[in-house]
Amino acid sequence: MKILFVCLGNICRSPAADGVLLHRIKELDLAEQIQVDSAGTSAYHEGEGADRRMQEHANKRGYTLPSISRGFTKRDLEEFDLIIAMDKSNYRNILKLDIEGKYKNKVKLFCSFCSGPYTSYEEVPDPYFGGARGFEEVMDLVENGVEGILNQYGNKER
Ligand code: 4NP
Repeated sequence: MKILFVCLGNICRSPAADGVLLHRIKELDLAEQIQVDSAGTSAYHEGEGADRRMQEHANKRGYTLPSISRGFTKRDLEEFDLIIAMDKSNYRNILKLDIEGKYKNKVKLFCSFCSGPYTSYEEVPDPYFGGARGFEEVMDLVENGVEGILNQYGNKER
């Protein structure tokens, strides 16, 4: 199964989700079953690694973020089995490329996988213009939602 995380710039939220899921895939020995990538609805940061602040907050929790920013393309709609938008604006922009409405069922909001204290969230807030708390909030949500994704798609007993 191929999973793609999508945010706006592909330097903060989707790289964090990508790094955390990759880490868990390794821990759970799921590399044969799940492939992960990330992209941005804007290609503004194309070629850049994850934002340094995002990397620092992820590193503190034991994750590395290997992503290099790239723009989301129409082709991704065909290639991936599950496309996970970090916020509603990303979700809408992804579906704008689905002109014939063929792929809607594989596009989901990240927060639909969140549970417990994060159930009330509908979006992963954009941390780019804020302070450290925003990046911590991204990490909290991402760790929680990734477990939800694994519960649904990581078909090993856990
Ligand atoms: P991301 O955060 O969508 O989580 O990667 C952002 C990164 C860059 C910008 C906005 C959000 N920007 O405006 O450059």
